[in-house]
Amino acid sequence: MERLQKVIASAGVTSRRKAEELIKEGKVQVNGKVVTELGTKVNTTDEILVNNKLITIEDKEYYLLNKPRGVVTTTADDKDRKIVTDLINTKARIYPIGRLDYDTTGALLLTNDGDFANIVMHPKSGIDKVYLAKLEGIIKGEQINTLKKGVKLDNILVKASRVKLKKINPEKNTCMVEITIHEGKNHQVKRMFEAVGFHVEKLHRERVGIFAVQDLKSGEYRKLSPKEVSIIYSLKK
Ligand code: URA
Repeated sequence: MERLQKVIASAGVTSRRKAEELIKEGKVQVNGKVVTELGTKVNTTDEILVNNKLITIEDKEYYLLNKPRGVVTTTADDKDRKIVTDLINTKARIYPIGRLDYDTTGALLLTNDGDFANIVMHPKSGIDKVYLAKLEGIIKGEQINTLKKGVKLDNILVKASRVKLKKINPEKNTCMVEITIHEGKNHQVKRMFEAVGFHVEKLHRERVGIFAVQDLKSGEYRKLSPKEVSIIYSLKK
C-alpha cells in the first residue's frame, strides 16, 4: 500500500505536489469514488483516475547496464541519437540514474523507482562511483593528493575519496587512474582531472556501489535482484 499522491507521481502523470493539489480539487477517483483526502493508501490493483484518465501503476524494475560509447544517457534526444533506454527490453518507463557522458562507458543503473534513484544519487548515501580514466600525460603524487584534498568545481569543493595510479605508458605518455567519487556532478571526473592539468582521453565507470560491470559486455545488461535492491534501500539516510 502506498500513498495516493506518491502513486500518481510515480506513474509519471505529474509531480507529487501537483498530485496533492489534484486530489484536494476532487480530480482524483479511486475505484469509482472521488477521493479528496491526502495520504489515502492505495495498492496496485486499485483503479485510479486522474482528470478522468486511468493511470497505470507499473511494477518497479531495476537494471544494470554496461553502457557503450556513443549512446546518450537520457530518455529522449532531440538530435535523434541512440539513447540508453533503447538498449533495454522493457515496456516500463525506466530512466537512467545519473548521467554518463556520450563517450563514457560502463556501469549505469536504470529504474522506474524514484526513491531508489534518489538513494543512489544522494552523496550522503556514500555510494562509491568508481571510474577508470585514461589520461594524456602522467599524473604525479602531488596531483593525486590535490584530487583527494578537493578541487573547486563551480565554486564547490569536490573530493575524490580514492585515487590510484594503475598503469603508466611512457612511450605514449599516458596513464590509467582509478578514481572514486560520491557525487555525480556534470562531467565531474573530467573536470576534476582538468583542474589538476590533465585531459581525460577515455572514461569508464567500473562500479556504482555493489554494481560492477566486469561480467557484462558492452551494451549488455541484467536485472538487479531483490536482495540487491534492498541493500540500496538499507543505505537510505
Ligand atoms: N564524470 C565525467 O566527466 N563524465 C562522466 O560520464 C561521468 C563522470
